Amino acid sequence: MEVHKISCIGAGFVGGPTMAVFAYKCPDLQISCLDLDPEKISRWNSNELPIYESCLLEIVQNCRGRNLSFSNDVSNEIKNSNIIFICVNTPTKTYGEGAGCAFDLTYLESSVRSIASVLKDCTDKKIIVEKSTVAVRTAEIIEQILTHNAPGLDFSVLSNPEFLAEGTAVNDLLNPSRVLIGGKNEEAIETLANLYARWVPRTKILTTSLWSSELSKLCSNAMLAQRISSINSISAVCERVGADIDEVSTVIGTDERIGNKFLRTSVGFGGSCFTKDVLCLVYICESIGLTDVANYWRQVIIMNEFQRNRFTKCIITSMNNTLKNKHIAMFGFAYKKNTGDTRETAACYVASTLLEEGAIIHVYDPKVTRQMMLNEMNLHKFLDFISADKHLITETNPYEAVKNSSAILVLTEWDCFKDFDYTRMFQDMLKPAYIFDGRNLLNHSALREIGFRVIALGKSDFRDFRFC
Ligand SMILES: NC(=O)c1ccc[n+]([C@@H]2O[C@H](COP(=O)([O-])OP(=O)(O)OC[C@H]3O[C@@H](n4cnc5c(N)ncnc54)[C@H](O)[C@@H]3O)[C@@H](O)[C@H]2O)c1
Repeated sequence: MEVHKISCIGAGFVGGPTMAVFAYKCPDLQISCLDLDPEKISRWNSNELPIYESCLLEIVQNCRGRNLSFSNDVSNEIKNSNIIFICVNTPTKTYGEGAGCAFDLTYLESSVRSIASVLKDCTDKKIIVEKSTVAVRTAEIIEQILTHNAPGLDFSVLSNPEFLAEGTAVNDLLNPSRVLIGGKNEEAIETLANLYARWVPRTKILTTSLWSSELSKLCSNAMLAQRISSINSISAVCERVGADIDEVSTVIGTDERIGNKFLRTSVGFGGSCFTKDVLCLVYICESIGLTDVANYWRQVIIMNEFQRNRFTKCIITSMNNTLKNKHIAMFGFAYKKNTGDTRETAACYVASTLLEEGAIIHVYDPKVTRQMMLNEMNLHKFLDFISADKHLITETNPYEAVKNSSAILVLTEWDCFKDFDYTRMFQDMLKPAYIFDGRNLLNHSALREIGFRVIALGKSDFRDFRFC
């Protein structure tokens, strides 16, 4: 099948960068990235992109106006496209059946209905690509909506889940570990595989059934999250028995069968995907009667909450069980380094508990804006009982953030945090001056020499209880 034009519904963290890289690698194809949100589209059309990813702006500037466009005109752009990617959000359902676990398919269903209504009289063949992360057998829902609402349409549905990681999205798209295409129709699979093959080696393009493809994506994320929860559970053991989590992780990671990635302890995983994808797997297992399997995966989430809670409790107990009106500097609000994404960030939960205790928090993050931070806090209703203006302050200078503070919390592993002048910071802080390293990022012995009391996960001086 010949391809001239590709559209993508959803210009978010995945749709935007993915289409930019398609445009960059396929200069002969017209690529349009579509979204209902006019503000987002106008930012994609500016030099203030709605998301931060290394090299993304350069690629967008290179292709925009040539073969890459961003538009709100979903219907018109779909009509002339041979391939239509669906890359809309699939958040956890917050109401009704499956609330708190199942995916909310509202956005996906409405985008498929838009496709059906625009293409109902179309005579040429279309490939609909499910790129959003979905529960198994969602492709069947897409097929049914199209069959019933566009009966004459000649189409194939493919599953092509995205494995990019935020923070390294452009590099992951240019050099993916694998491209996965699930489908029933060989010609459609080959058409999409040929596009990727322009820059991805054939050996890395895996083809499977629709259902294997959909399930593989969920399970990949579940297993990444499980590794983080596993090492975090071991960090708690280390604290009680006098072992050191960094040493234990290094030893575990040198076993080639295990490998060393995703083995650093932290205050817990965040981001828009891990929690929701694990919960969806739990829901699927419960729905098909596999209660023990569901409980196994649910424990990954429970362990993540356990880690976050005990880190926060350690801060409170170390500071004499009273944070009222104490200033605390928070380094990092993004859920991981090299991104401005705050969705489900551990920092949000830690901040909320400390605010409840009466602390005044000064946040410094190189990429997170005040608005993004407030949006995430408000989403969880964490600011309902405090004045954000007085208690949750955004700082653009880390040295200002620490002035008169009693503690520094490290919540994102930004490399620049390692290079700060901590001697200067120590002088400006109240004593004892604490550092709670939620990422085990800093040089703890050097900080102790300066005079800081350093408390870190998986180390023997970590205490989340107090007798007096
Ligand atoms: N963020 C990641 O790192 C990542 C990685 C791999 C896969 N995924 C999956 O990819 C999907 C998209 O994730 P994201 O992070 O890009 O989400 P996002 O929220 O950043 O973007 C989704 C976009 O879709 C738009 N949208 C929703 N309904 C629409 C409609 N009917 N028509 C047009 N636009 C519509 C929204 O306005 C939004 O801009 C999700 O299923 C997610 O699980 C995300």
